[in-house]
Amino acid sequence: MAKVVFEDVYKSFPARERSLNKQRSKDPRSPDPGAESSRVSVLRRINLDIEDGEFMVLVGPSGCGKSTLLRLIAGLEELTGGNIRVGDRLINALPPKARDIAMVFQSYALYPHLTVYDNLAFGLRRMNREEVKDSKLPAWADRWVVSATRSLPKPLRHRPEQERQIRERISKVAQMLQIDGLLRRLPKELSGGQKQRVALGRAIARNPQVFLMDEPLSNLDAKLRAETRAQIVTLQQRLGITTIYVTHDQIEAMTMGQRIAVMAEGQIQQVGPPLELYDRPVNRFVAEFIGSPPMNFIPVEVKTPRSVIHSQFRLTLPEEWGKTLEHCDGKTLWLGVRPEHLQVGPAATKNLPVKVSQVEAIGSETFVVGQLLESEEQIQARIEPEHAVQPGDVLWLSIRLEKVHLFEPESQLALHPAEQ
Ligand SMILES: Nc1ncnc2c1ncn2[C@@H]1O[C@H](COP(=O)(O)OP(=O)(O)OP(=O)(O)O)[C@@H](O)[C@H]1O
Ligand SMILES: [Mg+2]
Repeated sequence: MAKVVFEDVYKSFPARERSLNKQRSKDPRSPDPGAESSRVSVLRRINLDIEDGEFMVLVGPSGCGKSTLLRLIAGLEELTGGNIRVGDRLINALPPKARDIAMVFQSYALYPHLTVYDNLAFGLRRMNREEVKDSKLPAWADRWVVSATRSLPKPLRHRPEQERQIRERISKVAQMLQIDGLLRRLPKELSGGQKQRVALGRAIARNPQVFLMDEPLSNLDAKLRAETRAQIVTLQQRLGITTIYVTHDQIEAMTMGQRIAVMAEGQIQQVGPPLELYDRPVNRFVAEFIGSPPMNFIPVEVKTPRSVIHSQFRLTLPEEWGKTLEHCDGKTLWLGVRPEHLQVGPAATKNLPVKVSQVEAIGSETFVVGQLLESEEQIQARIEPEHAVQPGDVLWLSIRLEKVHLFEPESQLALHPAEQ
């Protein structure tokens, strides 16, 4: 249990390695000669403080550097620049074993020839003997009794103290994860969800200072995924171990994280509690990534004091936008509207005329995709299930004005209304 701090962390890989890899798939005999000296930057200026006992989720699209960041903490990759601290220790140069960190991989990484019990015990047996605490016998006496009773029938043999403590710990963890009936099985005799819980159990049994989890649920079906998701959250709360959880699934991020760090192209875009990211995204990337279906973006022209105009509609934004828009007269901005903040309304200049192309009615709500009339803009809306909508219909969608977002097209940054 410890705080984890990243200070100006950079990571780059030799470009040659990457282009060689690409090249190899095409033609193994012709490596790229020009790429020898350059490096490819994969993580840039990562600054992040993760509190002791916090559940932090790293989320971002494929290739944005999430796994690399975890591997840096675990010591499986070397830092190019910056520092990583766990508790009050600088761990940059520590070997993985000395970091007191347990990692759960997407691919479980169980030993196929070992039973579930031995998989759980593996890391514990490798721990130092000093960690065998509260022994009833001194170590020399323990060893002596073990060898003296070795020839007796199994139930009468003395178990080494370390093994006894391992057994106790495993039995607790196995009960917690409901795998106590599976301890004698081999991994090949388990379902995906059971394997996943064993991999989790192996990390928990080590009682590390920090858990790292790299998309641990991606091999599970939807139902098991939701169940295991909740289980991990409950377990983490119970154990209070600082956890860094990587996913590219934003629903997982929203439901599991106390805070979420959204990453894109090797940089952290925004860090905050889930609803803060949803309500106040700092830029267009975060606005689009958090929320499902994603936010709609429509180019509009600002007319001061508080109007935004599109050829198909015209809105007057709430008063708190006045100050922000003061200097934007005539400027084009992106208007951001979440699908759930659109509702079916009457024909009016403030409403969006949308020609429906797809309808997905799932009972509790209806998802609609369509095109804003006489424009390029695709609009997604999430409307009440009572509306019977067909492809080809034209809907007038009204916007919940207190929920709109505005983004500056060049910088992609969000504009914010004045605080009230
Ligand atoms: N050993 C390596 N050598 C060169 N490039 C690498 C190496 N490892 C990772 N990369 C590159 O670094 C970038 C980040 O990779 P990383 O595995 O961290 O992404 P990720 O966010 O975990 O993606 P995913 O969601 O697909 O798992 C990718 O562009 C990848 O190709
Ligand atoms: Mg990854």
